[in-house]
Amino acid sequence: MEVIKVKDYNELSEIAANIMIDAVTKKPNITLGLATGGTPVGLYENLVKDYQNNGTSYKEVTTFNLDEYIGLEKTHDQSYSFFMHDNLFDHIDITEENVHVPCGTSADHIQEAKNYEQLIDENPIDFQLIGIGVNGHIGFNEPGTHINSVTSVVQLTDSTIEANARYFEGNEQLVPTKAISMGIGTIRNAKQILLIITGLSKAKIVKQLIEDPASEDVPASLLKDHPNFTIIIDEEAASLLDK
Ligand code: PGA
Repeated sequence: MEVIKVKDYNELSEIAANIMIDAVTKKPNITLGLATGGTPVGLYENLVKDYQNNGTSYKEVTTFNLDEYIGLEKTHDQSYSFFMHDNLFDHIDITEENVHVPCGTSADHIQEAKNYEQLIDENPIDFQLIGIGVNGHIGFNEPGTHINSVTSVVQLTDSTIEANARYFEGNEQLVPTKAISMGIGTIRNAKQILLIITGLSKAKIVKQLIEDPASEDVPASLLKDHPNFTIIIDEEAASLLDK
């Protein structure tokens, strides 16, 4: 596990973007695992800027997003499919058929999750980007999720619903209670994993993640023994660390 400490959100977004651009440049047909949430927005802005200024191409890139809310149509402005198109896909030359986000409105969510896992099995992820929840979740793998879990239908915890209400007019009642999420095992199968963490609200979980032994109580800590796992944290997120 490598920990890179940076000053602030801007620096985090730039460094993380440069790592991803480098990976895409080295392997133009790379398979990327992508994340949503507030944290990667700046990173995606940098990818778009780089695409416009330097022409890094995504034509041959395949992507798999970590998760999607159950019950939201792709066109819903809080769906993760919408988020990805709005923040990244609509602004680069990616091929739409190569873009994968679990479908949150299929007739059979359990089957949809199985199909998604199968598709990832057939297209192993080279580079997985993730964020972390205030409770340590990765994707929607909430505390207690098994290290070998695969893509499945999951229940959001109260803490995640509370944290995500900010995207739903501050109203917890509007936040979906279930999602389809890659499992921790799915994420661990990626060849390289990059976790980006910013802000004071994450300082407590960062301390647990970095200073405590791996435990199901902090799902992100189950990545600590991954052979190619990098964490980038800014000063605020690192503010409770002993050193
Ligand atoms: P955030 O979400 O980037 O909006 O804080 C992170 C997460 O819940 O994984």
